[in-house]
Amino acid sequence: MARTKLVVGNWKMNGSRAANAELLAALKAAGPWGAEVAVCPPTVYLADTVLALQGSNVAWGAQDCSAHASGAYTGEVAAAMLSEFGCRYAIVGHSERRALHGESDQLVADKAKAALAHNLTPIVCVGETLAEREAGRTDEVVKRQLSAVIHTLAHCISQVVVAYEPVWAIGTGKTASPDQAQAVHALLRTQLTAATQTAGDMKILYGGSVKADNAAALFALPDVDGGLIGGASLKAADFAAICRAAG
Ligand code: 13P
Repeated sequence: MARTKLVVGNWKMNGSRAANAELLAALKAAGPWGAEVAVCPPTVYLADTVLALQGSNVAWGAQDCSAHASGAYTGEVAAAMLSEFGCRYAIVGHSERRALHGESDQLVADKAKAALAHNLTPIVCVGETLAEREAGRTDEVVKRQLSAVIHTLAHCISQVVVAYEPVWAIGTGKTASPDQAQAVHALLRTQLTAATQTAGDMKILYGGSVKADNAAALFALPDVDGGLIGGASLKAADFAAICRAAG
């Protein structure tokens, strides 16, 4: 069965109300695309995003969500709150959160579970560092990261989107080669296949320096079902071109 491609813009901690309004208006005008498209702005901009994207084919999501339902967790945002703002997706386990905020494989899995409980599709990020790749540990690292999520979600694993983001390719201008990307995506799908009969329908996105000029080659790979886009998602023309490359 052909999987619909998905392109998600992860704005990270960028933007302003004025800049976002311009970017979202341009995106709304640039669509629709054959692929599903979503943007993940900083949480504080979600209310503006809801209004700006009303009536468009662009969905929105969050860059993170708490593993907890509610309570004394200063600074955190619960999945139920994100759901109230119409989020369709929540990115969990981005390498920046794993590295800068010490998020463990289990915490990431718990966040994915919290997201699913509130009808958000978790976009679970996995990926190796340069040192891990050079030590020949790529397969072991991504399998370990995904395994925690498979174990925690059990039969619900088929409802997540997985994103392979090699850490060394994020924001560096160095993209994984098509062979490198396909090899890891195939490995992840094999691991998912052992956990769910519907792994063939699951989306596995590639992220890491995806640009308008390399997107088509990556999206043409058999196990790459779209992209998680950082820097290039901040420019409407570039992001729209990447969405076009996805169909
Ligand atoms: P860049 O596209 O800027 O490399 O970022 C990728 C990323 O981390 C998306 O989540």
